[in-house]
Amino acid sequence: MKDTPFDMADETVLITGGGTGLGKQFATVLAAAGAQVILCARRVDKLEETVAQLRDQGADAHAIPMDVTCSESVTAGFKQCLAIAPVTVLVNNAGLAGESMLLAMPEEEWDSIVNTNLKGAWLVARAAAQQMIDHEHSGSIINIASVLASSVQKGTAAYAAAKSGVVHLTRAMALEWARYGIRVNAIAPGYYRTDMAEAYLDSPAGQQLLKRIPQRRLGDPAEMDGAILMLASTASRYMTGSTVTVDGGLGLSIV
Ligand SMILES: NC(=O)c1ccc[n+]([C@@H]2O[C@H](COP(=O)([O-])OP(=O)(O)OC[C@H]3O[C@@H](n4cnc5c(N)ncnc54)[C@H](OP(=O)(O)O)[C@@H]3O)[C@@H](O)[C@H]2O)c1
Repeated sequence: MKDTPFDMADETVLITGGGTGLGKQFATVLAAAGAQVILCARRVDKLEETVAQLRDQGADAHAIPMDVTCSESVTAGFKQCLAIAPVTVLVNNAGLAGESMLLAMPEEEWDSIVNTNLKGAWLVARAAAQQMIDHEHSGSIINIASVLASSVQKGTAAYAAAKSGVVHLTRAMALEWARYGIRVNAIAPGYYRTDMAEAYLDSPAGQQLLKRIPQRRLGDPAEMDGAILMLASTASRYMTGSTVTVDGGLGLSIV
């Protein structure tokens, strides 16, 4: 029984890349709102560490190994998930960035970035939607895009193209799956200090970028708590196909 539209009781949330960075914060806030959380990624030690911290806070948390670029691994992960409970909310958060300029980018780097951020998002969302449909449960899918989905920066071509694809894929999924009661939305974060962004943020280019953020600072992962809670819960029950930007205003200006 839900107390407020933001109540996550009775929900089982699967979060890819849930052991670190933004995914860990998404798990923390959704678990605090009452959800059971299942964290998936390749490094099981990181997942177990986060699961232990969440359990210490009273959460019902689980770790399942999954490589989002591999359909067999995704299928096996969702089978393990079902043994805990059918997923009702997915946070499609696993991601990988690169730094090569287009002319110098090895083909393997392109493949690995696009396969993780875009193909992986499709493989995982497809498995989640099928599980929701099989169990006749409405659901919510949140794809994690980026401010780079709508603007570009040198050295981020493959990542920016993949994240732009994630925003459009979000719309396509929203259109096809509305009939099953599945809503699909995206969050486009600006810059947050995580393992993925750290080296760039400490570089001269990263320091320059800081000055271009209208709010003049990086985001704190907890500043996405409102967006993730809204999109995961019935508070957003008439929203589908939307992208919510949480970037301190970075994407607003061209200069
Ligand atoms: N930090 C930012 O400023 C920022 C800005 C915009 C968007 N984002 C997006 O936010 C999401 C989270 O990134 P983050 O900043 O929190 O960085 P992060 O801490 O490096 O998180 C990335 C996560 O993705 C997982 N992952 C990578 N490849 C995977 C694969 N093949 N299969 C399963 N999991 C995989 C990693 O775990 P394993 O390596 O253990 O698999 C890791 O937990 C990403 O989608 C990223 O693009 C971040």
